[in-house]
Amino acid sequence: MSPSPELHPHLAAEDPEVHALLVAELRRQEEGIELIASENHASPAVIETMASVFTNKYAEGYPGRRYYGGCEHADAVEDLARNRLKELFGSYAANVQPSSGSQANQAAMLTLAPPGSKVLAMDLNHGGHLSHGHPKNLSGMVWEFHHYGVRREDERLDYDALAEQARALRPALLLAGASAYPRTLDFERLGAIAREVGARFLVDMAHIAGLVAAGLHPSPVPHADLVTMTTHKTLRGPRGGAVLAPKEWIKQVNSAVFPGMQGGPLMHVVAAKAVAFGEALRPEFTAYQERVLANAAALAAELEARGYRLVSGGTDNHLMLVDLRSPGGPDITGAVAEDALERAGITVNKNLIPFDPEPPMRTSGIRIGTPAVTTRGFGVDEMRLLAAWMDEVLRSPEDEAVARRIRGEVLELCAAHPVYPDWRAEWLRL
Ligand SMILES: Cc1ncc(COP(=O)(O)O)c(C=O)c1O
Repeated sequence: MSPSPELHPHLAAEDPEVHALLVAELRRQEEGIELIASENHASPAVIETMASVFTNKYAEGYPGRRYYGGCEHADAVEDLARNRLKELFGSYAANVQPSSGSQANQAAMLTLAPPGSKVLAMDLNHGGHLSHGHPKNLSGMVWEFHHYGVRREDERLDYDALAEQARALRPALLLAGASAYPRTLDFERLGAIAREVGARFLVDMAHIAGLVAAGLHPSPVPHADLVTMTTHKTLRGPRGGAVLAPKEWIKQVNSAVFPGMQGGPLMHVVAAKAVAFGEALRPEFTAYQERVLANAAALAAELEARGYRLVSGGTDNHLMLVDLRSPGGPDITGAVAEDALERAGITVNKNLIPFDPEPPMRTSGIRIGTPAVTTRGFGVDEMRLLAAWMDEVLRSPEDEAVARRIRGEVLELCAAHPVYPDWRAEWLRL
């Protein structure tokens, strides 16, 4: 199939090679089921804004105080993004310039903890994120990180043990937030622990920002000194980061982002953030997040009914971790599962489970999330189908005939739920 010249006519004419890859990626997203918990399908309006002339504009500084001329529209759009984000989370101030979640975290840490000081954060192997002190991440090189984890018995955070650890360590900063923790985080409790030991408290709500915006997960804003997020996961915006701050910290946050971490902001992305935050303020967004949760609960229940053990026994949020190695499961590694499901048109990622005996490139588990499939309109009925297909593939991971048959079913279901109907129609017109 040759790429549609209509999809992106200038690109098709100038650079058929890149255009073909762009069309191929659209097709991959249209024809596959996306269960990676950190991904989503941003709206056409968000994507159009990213592909706009704002990419040309240098706007170092902040609205009203730029280092370049010609920033009047950049100022207006950044103000829109900031104001919408503040309204969404009830925050005093916001910085929408971080180009990624990792940079938002680094700017927040620069603000709250002097380089070299102690930071206590969630263990990467128990669901934390590498920007929370992995030795090969800048965070792990600049600060002295110590980590807390989940309890072995129920794989949930042990707040009493964490408090003990914090009392003994006396960190400058307590950092909460995770990439693979399926349970509600008790920000009130965590904030109290931080205050008791004289630490600052930073929450990275990258994964759950959309749920928090919709009021479906308790907000960290009243309890944390600073809150960081990514804008592209449950929040369903463009790829990027943001920081929420109270009056006392916003000046330092702004200078930690620019010039601390970055030069000129990606203004096309800042503009797209404004669009996405506008979408998140609408009632439809709350309804969407409710469906994300209902789908996750349904998928978890279906998998458990088929004998799979879920880490911590289920999920409270948009994601779950499946332990493939425990009795009742298929007894394969996460790496084998990821490959087998990919051949059937279902994308997940292998993921360590707490106390995993396998190394990170093999793992005993997979992580599954429902934000992207919910965006394309899957509901509880589709979750039942999905669980049945995944079960069949995972129990015969080498069986090409099974993979092929299920790939066919996946294609049919995806055709009934297009992600981008207009773009899909153009691509199909070939
Ligand atoms: C909890 C958490 N924080 C930060 C990030 C980093 O975001 P980015 O990939 O934009 O640097 C992620 C990304 O997966 C995450 O899960």
